[in-house]
Amino acid sequence: MIPTWAQIGYLVSAVCFIVALKALSSPRSARTGNLIGAAGAVLAVLITFAAYKPDHLAPILIALIIGTIGGVVGSRRVQMTQMPQLVALFNGVGGGAAALVALLELDEVSSDATVAAIASAFTILVGAVSFSGSVVTFTKLQELMTTRPVTFPGLPVLFVASILGGLALGVWLVSDPRVWVGVLLCLVGLAIGVMLVLPVGGADVPIVISLLNAFTGLTVAAGGYVLGNTLLLIAGTLVGAAGTLLTKLMADAMGRSVFNILFGAIRGGSTLGAGVASERPVISGGPEDVAILLGYANKVIIVPGYGLAVAQAQHVLRDLVEELQSRGVKVDYAIHPVAGRMPGHMNVLLAEAQVPYDQLREMDDINGDFKTTDVVLVVGANDVVNPAARNTPSAPIYGMPILNADEAQRVIFLKRSMRPGFAGIENELLYDPRTTLLFGDARDSLTKLLGALKTV
Ligand code: TAP
Repeated sequence: MIPTWAQIGYLVSAVCFIVALKALSSPRSARTGNLIGAAGAVLAVLITFAAYKPDHLAPILIALIIGTIGGVVGSRRVQMTQMPQLVALFNGVGGGAAALVALLELDEVSSDATVAAIASAFTILVGAVSFSGSVVTFTKLQELMTTRPVTFPGLPVLFVASILGGLALGVWLVSDPRVWVGVLLCLVGLAIGVMLVLPVGGADVPIVISLLNAFTGLTVAAGGYVLGNTLLLIAGTLVGAAGTLLTKLMADAMGRSVFNILFGAIRGGSTLGAGVASERPVISGGPEDVAILLGYANKVIIVPGYGLAVAQAQHVLRDLVEELQSRGVKVDYAIHPVAGRMPGHMNVLLAEAQVPYDQLREMDDINGDFKTTDVVLVVGANDVVNPAARNTPSAPIYGMPILNADEAQRVIFLKRSMRPGFAGIENELLYDPRTTLLFGDARDSLTKLLGALKTV
């Protein structure tokens, strides 16, 4: 039985998690939110040690120290563009840990405690799915394996058979909670996780990470039930709900269904386009031409995208915007909800360069302004301004809301080549007579552009 003071401490931790989630919903308060959440987690760990007084303290502390060092070093070293795979790894470890705990607790579950046995079976199966699925997402995003969808004949049959096998083993475990049945269930879960993620194209993987994150949350919540721990129940439910909502929001912002993202490749239609650029002529210019367009504009909108993160050009972009503002040009940043490769990618990137939050405008807020804009500067973005999302029903991004860059007087693209973006499809806006392309790495181009602007 957990003492009352510990229950109250857990309640404080739970409140920290809820406040943290609320604060994380705005870039302005996200850093504080993160710290509040971390403080809640540390408090929960301390309370657990004090209340449960675990027997094998030394190995637990050693594991804790190793985990802490791994977490701190990993988080400090990771590049911003590698954040999704780090999240995948952390998430997988969470699901795996919950499954292991439930396996070890099987001895304590008696066969007449049906609900506890169901919770154990659920934790083991879904935790294992989350672990192996997250490991595959990590290897895909880290490009340790192909990022293309991987399918093979018989995959759908094997997948369905594994799910049915997992359910059967789960029922068996509930009626007879033996450890070896739990181990079998865990192995089936691992196989399901691999088969779930293999057919997903590399660029859809961030959505799957969010889904697996929801799975881990639910696993932890069920684990909380098995252990009789209210805090795990609350924290797991929060993660489960947040992960589910995020998955849905991301899929909606991409104009896709979660089912299509997971099973599009299995059903035959690849989740990605062909990725071939045509040989049609485009208008390209040098930094001086573009500097004149920008320097004499009244109103400019910046559309940042994945290439900005790749080039790490956020600081020089901010310098360019400040130079334009000092010349009296009105400048805003238009933030598409799925620009980049992870939720909030552009907000985080631009916050790192100390761009004031009030200059970042959400898609719905800014879309009406493009009509009255002289120049749109698209920095390393592509799909988020591709009119095919509106006009081409066969395009994989058809239905995705986009930034109305094509409504502006002039459009400038900073990119290295005519290669398409993540969706692998052509962008007609690149061939529009009002569009000028400045080829090159975004940081290099912006540096030259800034130099040229100062002489205009
Ligand atoms: P993309 O459509 O992927 O376009 C990125 C562009 O950046 C490419 O055209 C690329 O062209 C250019 N680029 C790459 N490196 C560059 C560099 N060093 N310097 C200059 N340009 C560079 O990006 P987006 O417009 O941000 O759209 C995001 C896409 O990712 C959407 O399709 C979205 O659905 C998908 N997605 C987003 C998320 C989230 S949550 N954000 C998750 C999964 C998928 P070059 O190669 O020619 O330079």
